[in-house]
Amino acid sequence: MEASADRGTWNSRLGFIMAAAGSAVGLGNIWAFPNQVASNGGAAFLLVYLVCCFSVGYPLMVAELTIGRHTGRNPVGAFRALAPGSRVYALIGFWGILCGVGIHAFYNVIAGWTLAFVFEEVTYAAGATGLSQVLSDLSHGHKNALFSCLFMVATVTIVAGGVSSGIERATKTMMPALLVILLAMIAYVIFQEGSREGLRLYLQPDLSKINARLVLNAMGQAFFSLSLGIGTLITYGSYLNRKQNIPRAAAFVTGADISIAFLAGLLIIPAMFVAQSNGIQIFDDQGNLVSSTGLVFNTLPSLFHTLGPVGAVLGLLFFVLLSIAALTSTISLLEVPVAYLFDEWGMARRRAAIGVGIVGALLSLVVAYDPSWIDTLVNMFLNVGLPVGGLMICLFLGFVWKTQPALNEIEQGRPGTLTGPFGRLWPAFIKFFCPILILLVFLNTIGVLQWLFG
Ligand code: PHE
Repeated sequence: MEASADRGTWNSRLGFIMAAAGSAVGLGNIWAFPNQVASNGGAAFLLVYLVCCFSVGYPLMVAELTIGRHTGRNPVGAFRALAPGSRVYALIGFWGILCGVGIHAFYNVIAGWTLAFVFEEVTYAAGATGLSQVLSDLSHGHKNALFSCLFMVATVTIVAGGVSSGIERATKTMMPALLVILLAMIAYVIFQEGSREGLRLYLQPDLSKINARLVLNAMGQAFFSLSLGIGTLITYGSYLNRKQNIPRAAAFVTGADISIAFLAGLLIIPAMFVAQSNGIQIFDDQGNLVSSTGLVFNTLPSLFHTLGPVGAVLGLLFFVLLSIAALTSTISLLEVPVAYLFDEWGMARRRAAIGVGIVGALLSLVVAYDPSWIDTLVNMFLNVGLPVGGLMICLFLGFVWKTQPALNEIEQGRPGTLTGPFGRLWPAFIKFFCPILILLVFLNTIGVLQWLFG
């Protein structure tokens, strides 16, 4: 099966890797991850999260890319093509599109916040406190609506530009910029007073903190951060050529995503304690570290404001960084339904991008005017939507399409796969290990395991 020529393909290996890493690295790493770390007891979460990324995330990423490249289709078309004669499996693809649109609805509002804070930092530095207050008010409906619409326009513009001249070109320059900004900020924060305590919390695991909720959150976070379970990487994989080494590309993307999340934690957790030593409250009345939707958007700007001109520069850099990271991810969220529309319905890319963008922006408005939706949606999609999607993809690949044809597909860009250790291990992960692990985490969360084993 070959992708039709006018669908577009990645121009270079680096371009694809940057785009896939761009999809993975986003608000999930810089906004959600430190928040999860703070609300789940620090380093213990980090540890479980890493286990989830390596044991479930990586094998599933290989699976998605392989399905995508083999079929050259969007998720719905891909499952249709691999199981002709049965309509049921296309539902896995529809599930992905549904979750993708739902995620985009709240993601876009948070992305809008990041953009608003870029201007907030400038207006604050310029002494326009009234305006800066509006820009930093997370519950200001009109402001949220305006900035999420602006963000959607940017996303649609890039996606409408196509795979190589739109998505690839944009992400190739944005991703390295992001890394440089992040490193520079860590270097600064780590030498400030108070940062040590944050480092300790982040890096010294207290294993007694591990419980059912933490494990579920860590798994959901791994799916979300790696863009898995909704067919994003099936779609990106569909623009890949046969020469690409899928396991290696997936390893790079997983590695890049984990590293950026780790670095974001290394910046934000110590920064919270620096903020504390500058008089900002970071513990709530029960003595827990404040962790909320607003963590990054409340604590950090307050910190930046206490640091004078250096703070203004840091603040500006930080929110530019966050906007870049968010944009390379919203692009991929939009691309899935757009690919579905042009593959299955023959719609022109530009029209599809604008159409889906309008629907997405309208849904975002609900969240923009009532941001309390965010926690509910995060719970729904991270802890249920994505892992269920991932489970279905593993079972489909393992038992419907089967791992042998998948391995043959991988072999084309990675000779030796069929006979090497990867060829022996990966099928076992996809068929048994990953589905069982995902199921266990679910059962554990609803208390079935405790009930069974006391
Ligand atoms: N991985 C992105 C992030 O970390 C979010 C995302 C999830 C993007 C699912 C696409 C699909 O921010």
